[in-house]
Amino acid sequence: MVIAGVSLVLILGIINLVLILFQVSSGKKWLKVNFAWHRRLGLVLLFTAIAHALLAILSL
Ligand code: HEM
Repeated sequence: MVIAGVSLVLILGIINLVLILFQVSSGKKWLKVNFAWHRRLGLVLLFTAIAHALLAILSL
């Protein structure tokens, strides 16, 4: 699937990279945010990573 000329797999891959950087930074307490955001976005990351993987496999 393509949105505005960009593949959804690529968009989800970039979102996953940003979320992983956030998770490691907030988990290590380098980034001072309410820890609830670490838990919430960790779960969001689980679903965006599964969607990224499924779409990538289906596009083969
Ligand atoms: C892929 C998703 C996630 C990544 C990459 C991640 C990463 C990390 C990292 C790097 C730490 C620090 C560990 C250390 O310094 O020893 C940490 C701590 C922690 N994470 Fe996550 N995390 C993720 C998802 C979650 C989720 C979904 C939850 C809970 C629902 C969670 C709960 C915690 C807790 C309770 C700690 C310990 C905090 C503390 O020491 O005070 N994490 N995480």
